Amino acid sequence: MDRLDRIMKTSFGLQTVTKLLTGAAALASWGLQAELTEPSQAELQGYKALFKPALLPLSDQPRSAVDQAKVDLGRALYYDARLSKDDSISCNSCHNLEAYGVDNEQFSPGVGGHLGGRNSPTSYNAYAHIAQFWDGRASTVEEQAKGPILNPVEMAMPSAEAVIKKLKGIEGYEEMFEKAFPESDKPMNYNHVGLAIGAFERNLTTPSRFDQFLNGSNDALSAQELKGARVFVTKGCVSCHSGTLLGGQTYQKLGAVKAWPSDKDTGRFEVTKSEADKMMFKVPSLRNVEKTGPYFHDGSSKTLADAVEKMAWHQLGQKLSDAETDALVAFLKSLTGEIPSDYIAKPELPGESADFGDFDSF
Ligand code: HEC
Ligand code: HEC
Repeated sequence: MDRLDRIMKTSFGLQTVTKLLTGAAALASWGLQAELTEPSQAELQGYKALFKPALLPLSDQPRSAVDQAKVDLGRALYYDARLSKDDSISCNSCHNLEAYGVDNEQFSPGVGGHLGGRNSPTSYNAYAHIAQFWDGRASTVEEQAKGPILNPVEMAMPSAEAVIKKLKGIEGYEEMFEKAFPESDKPMNYNHVGLAIGAFERNLTTPSRFDQFLNGSNDALSAQELKGARVFVTKGCVSCHSGTLLGGQTYQKLGAVKAWPSDKDTGRFEVTKSEADKMMFKVPSLRNVEKTGPYFHDGSSKTLADAVEKMAWHQLGQKLSDAETDALVAFLKSLTGEIPSDYIAKPELPGESADFGDFDSF
């Protein structure tokens, strides 16, 4: 089984989450008095079951030549601003891989400085979500990747044909597509742009100390982080943020208990037009959340402490003590993983070879 299968198969379906909700309520009743003490060994075992399996590190299995060619093509396309109308914006402009896959802006400027209406989520670990975007309107990273290139407020290319025509004019891309899609009689097509970027994104994974904890080492987390883990479980955060990614697996209502201050963006309703989907958003993964602010689909929370307090209030109807907030934030910081620096290193892009440009160097 590859990594994705493993996460999908062992992660949490809706059913499990419902079971968890009841479980979390039970935990809450026996956890209440002792929330800010360290959990016992038995409790820690219980917590692990809520989040397992651990996130796997980037596979060091050798890839087939074709898979490697897809990943290399996807990496180049991810970094290539020439996929935008005026050569100014790449995927990496909004999802900076050195910066945990985000730009830390409330809303991201696209071509011409146009701003979209939603905060950019991280591209790390996104491949393992049930679907892509805050409202789930694309099912996979491969499908998702075809959107921004043509979106007028993002990369603003006029059409899929225009993208392919532009890529054909850049020396080196044609050969890369041929290597990546050797079976195809038309290797350079827009669908393959999505497939290649997706192949690259499927290895954007960031295991952290929390995974060492899930794999058995309780010392991987500090006493304060373990207290935070207890608050996370006993307060019921885990009823929505569960599984390997602490989220990414269900849609939930934003403002489940206390209404969210704005209903300008109705989330999944905009995709399905079903009343039941009003204010439903994909529960985001909390992996690397320390680094991915500002928070929420509307980028309305600047700090993690503020985001955590808003969640407790709007999703659970609770006010947290300062000590609880601090412990939760400490716990969430343990989800900050390691960036796969070699894998994400920006490659030399086709047609940008420095071979002939270096006349001044002697
Ligand atoms: C101008 C900024 C911008 C650019 C350029 C951009 N994105 Fe995004 N990206 C966003 C925003 C904003 C969202 C969320 C939009 C929504 O949910 O409606 C998003 C969502 C995503 C998601 C979904 C993540 C999740 O958790 O649901 C992925 C994956 C992603 N982008 C990858 C890419 C790739 C690959 C490219 C290049 C082909 C790209 N993006 C270009 C801003 C950008
Ligand atoms: C009923 C489900 C539910 C519960 C309970 C819940 N959350 Fe959330 N959480 C969500 C949803 C949905 C979002 C995305 C909201 C949005 O911006 O549209 C979210 C977003 C977040 C974010 C922002 C992440 C980002 O990348 O912007 C943080 C941090 C967070 N939750 C932490 C917590 C904590 C801590 C708790 C417990 C105090 C908690 N959540 C309880 C559903 C829930």
